[in-house]
Amino acid sequence: MSSTTVAEFAVELKKSTDTLLEQLRAAGVQKSAASDVLTDGDKHSLLNYLKTSHGTESPERKKITLVKRQTTEIKQADATGKARTIQVEVRKKRTFVRRDDAEQGAEAPAAASTTAAAPVIDQAELQRREEEARRQAELIRRQEEELAQRRREREEQEAKARAAEAEEAQRAAAKEEAERAEKAAQQKAKAEQQPASEAEEASAKAQEQAQADAKASKVAAEKAAAEKALAESKARAAEEQARAAELSERRRKAEEEAAAIRQMMSGPAKKVAAPAKKEEPKVEAKKGTLHKPAAGTTAAKPAKSFGNDAAPAGGAGKEVKASKLSSSWAGEPGKKKGIPTRGGDAGSANARGSWRAGPKGKRHGERDDNRNQAAPVEARVIEVHVPETITVAELAHKMAIKASEVIKELMKLGQMVTINQPLDQDTAMIVVEELGHKAVIAALDDPEAFTDEEVSGQQAEALPRAPVVTVMGHVDHGKTSLLDYIRRAKVAAGEAGGITQHIGAYHVETPRGMVSFLDTPGHEAFTAMRARGAQATDIVILVCAADDGVMPQTKEAVKHAKAAGVPIVVAITKADKPDANPERVKQELVGEEVVPEEYGGESPFVAVSSKTGMGIDELLEQVLLQAEVLELKAPVDAMAKGLVIEAKLDKGRGPVATVLVQSGTLKAGDVVLAGQTYGRVRAMLDENGRRIESAGPSIPVEIQGLTEVPQAGDEFMVLADERRAREIATYRAGKFRNTKLAKQQAAKLENMFSEMSSGDVKTLPIIIKADVQGSQEALASSLLKLSTDEVKVQMVYAAVGGISESDINLAIASKAVIIGFNTRADAGARKLAETNGVDIRYYDIIYDAVDDLKAAMSGMLTPDKKEEVIGTAEIRTVFVASKIGTVAGCMVTSGFVTRSAHFRLLRDNVVIYTGELDSLKRMKDDVREVKEGFECGIKLKNYNEIKENDQLEFFEIKEVARTL
Ligand code: GTP
Ligand code: MG
Repeated sequence: MSSTTVAEFAVELKKSTDTLLEQLRAAGVQKSAASDVLTDGDKHSLLNYLKTSHGTESPERKKITLVKRQTTEIKQADATGKARTIQVEVRKKRTFVRRDDAEQGAEAPAAASTTAAAPVIDQAELQRREEEARRQAELIRRQEEELAQRRREREEQEAKARAAEAEEAQRAAAKEEAERAEKAAQQKAKAEQQPASEAEEASAKAQEQAQADAKASKVAAEKAAAEKALAESKARAAEEQARAAELSERRRKAEEEAAAIRQMMSGPAKKVAAPAKKEEPKVEAKKGTLHKPAAGTTAAKPAKSFGNDAAPAGGAGKEVKASKLSSSWAGEPGKKKGIPTRGGDAGSANARGSWRAGPKGKRHGERDDNRNQAAPVEARVIEVHVPETITVAELAHKMAIKASEVIKELMKLGQMVTINQPLDQDTAMIVVEELGHKAVIAALDDPEAFTDEEVSGQQAEALPRAPVVTVMGHVDHGKTSLLDYIRRAKVAAGEAGGITQHIGAYHVETPRGMVSFLDTPGHEAFTAMRARGAQATDIVILVCAADDGVMPQTKEAVKHAKAAGVPIVVAITKADKPDANPERVKQELVGEEVVPEEYGGESPFVAVSSKTGMGIDELLEQVLLQAEVLELKAPVDAMAKGLVIEAKLDKGRGPVATVLVQSGTLKAGDVVLAGQTYGRVRAMLDENGRRIESAGPSIPVEIQGLTEVPQAGDEFMVLADERRAREIATYRAGKFRNTKLAKQQAAKLENMFSEMSSGDVKTLPIIIKADVQGSQEALASSLLKLSTDEVKVQMVYAAVGGISESDINLAIASKAVIIGFNTRADAGARKLAETNGVDIRYYDIIYDAVDDLKAAMSGMLTPDKKEEVIGTAEIRTVFVASKIGTVAGCMVTSGFVTRSAHFRLLRDNVVIYTGELDSLKRMKDDVREVKEGFECGIKLKNYNEIKENDQLEFFEIKEVARTL
């Protein structure tokens, strides 16, 4: 060898000059500067020294251990989309063991020694072999990938391992020692993996190699050994394959195998990592044949690694230190728990369990197992509550896995989704089940689910309560008058048009105890109100006028009462009238299956008069008797619950609701949830407008303080927490909006269809603003009922409250008529309406509004066209004038003919032609009209085929306005 300087040699060895100088000094070669020249002798001295110090010379030195540490960072978004940085430290330890001296001797020339300096095989050959080995490694890697694909949840992990490994391999290549060792191992792996022919080739190669070293005998031995190893490995491979099939089948359940696979995945040496099963033979083969450094590098873990005994001696151990997982994840399950999950308690349980729960958690757990050699973690099945819609990210979060896993699963199902895409319940549930968890339809994010518990949680003792009595019957049969008499009040007198248009609620102290009355309207428009009244009530007083008998709304009231299952007491009113016939009423009601007690039925019949007061006491008596039978009870010392009877928007007081407390006690200051609205009770008034502080069961009160006008018929309840009340109200409102939206959509489609099919349908858009909810509802339904096939009433908007500018704007946009029922437009709205010509109509009686609208709609109907015959004429002569055309000389035989009239040409009483006149002349003058008995000349428009003796019938078309 030619002489080199220390510096040059250091570069060759990839060592620092200082280290080399130090080693040289230790080897007894006295060099002090980098520029000193090294002779071959110096190099040999160094080699000998190193051999000694590394143990090549000494028989005790059999192992070389390489430890590598690599730190990488993974940036990843978690389910909430927050980027997290995970630091992963990979530690690898490779130990190369010399099996025994004899083997070592045999191998030495082929695989090269551990020393740094002496290249035994020429470089090209080395490279070729390295290339070959890499090819083989690549082959194995592909096989491995196949396996890995089946285990999709570990793909990513594997990729990481692969990357780390590739880097590792590069570094290893840099060091000669490592390189050689690896090469040897690769050869070995190759020998094992090759099919028969390939294996022979490999052994041939080995032979060649041996020949190059002129050690034929050793090569023969090696070949034999390789063949033996091959046979062995093939047998094993078959065995392993069978096992692998079984393994893939039972992968999820068989935790032991899963652990083995996981460990395999975390193994560093790619070439061997996947077909873990093939490692067993390798170890043996190594021992028997390829000897020396084989067991290291690629060989990876021994068979033992199946039993979670990863790293030691011959294996390549890789571990992720959980403690090194910096980022907010590490060891902070509390933090995870803090992330709100929509699934309520189950959700948080998931979060708590997430470390060990999903596939991800499992992975971490598994690492721990490797380290601690603990028992494998069982796959945990999470109960996932799936709401109606859920985004991919949320779903992944609930299962404690990455969103990409969910996306992958959906891809398998043929759906390409993004992380923020909402999934419907069915799809989400399928995904959950596919991922091995349990899907449950969630009702948990419905805050209403808890309201019942909340309210019933505080059960107080039920005490007797006053009955709630609803008075029902046909319009003008005397319901309000009856109540007025009982209350000694004059409500009926103050009613517009003398009719009740909303439910009145009163409580009355009678000598026999308290009774709460609900007065319902009798007009047909108020069906909904009557139904509500019947539902809120304990007893129904069915009013039927003795002079009128059973009428449609009487029957309807009976139906409502029967549907609500409440006892009926019949009051035959106006018994004082001379034409009163209580017996007729009784008989007619029997027809409605309301049977008087005296006929063996259950309903007491009492003839009363609100004028004279006759029978009223008896009626009350009967009512209270029924109430006693019912044994009505309700908790008093509890949070109130009840029904909204009526609601309105008061200019000064805001939303005002008349509510009937059904149980508990409503107090001023309580937080009330009523339908879609909520609020704190600011003030409570009784039916006489007196301020009260609390209202017990069966007491109707008017409350102020709600944020919006509730719907009549809504249930109300007192909640302890205002925030909760708001939450539920908002939720209900949202739900309502959704369904309303859906309905509107449907209505639109329906409209489109009907418009298409019916051609020209006129619509009358209206906006209703009413004083109270009940009137609004009744008015709306009455007006909507006016719709016919030709004219449709379109309800643009209906609400409670005064007419505001926004209502006018809405009317302008929709060309609607505004109906103000007991409400008026404010100054601004009036001005706006005037300037824009918006029609505002005010009413205080529903039926007037209905009548007016009916009239308006009649005006909109296309008028009927009627033909009216005005006269006849006979054609006496036919003139043909070249300039004018054919002219009929006629005699008007009856009526008259006008210039603008239409005609029918009749020949033998058969209509030949229908058309209009072109000109009408008398003598030579154009005239407008010719009367009976006169002659005239008529030119017909577009028609010349006239003959003498033809008859002309003249008619006019008149438009007749239609009514509905
Ligand atoms: P709606 O609420 O509109 O359904 O009517 P209603 O059932 O409340 O009838 P209301 O009490 O308003 O009475 C209608 C008319 O009947 C009034 O003019 C009363 O004066 C009259 N009336 C009611 N009760 C009696 C009665 O007992 N005797 C006589 N003679 N007239 C009565
Ligand atoms: Mg009335």
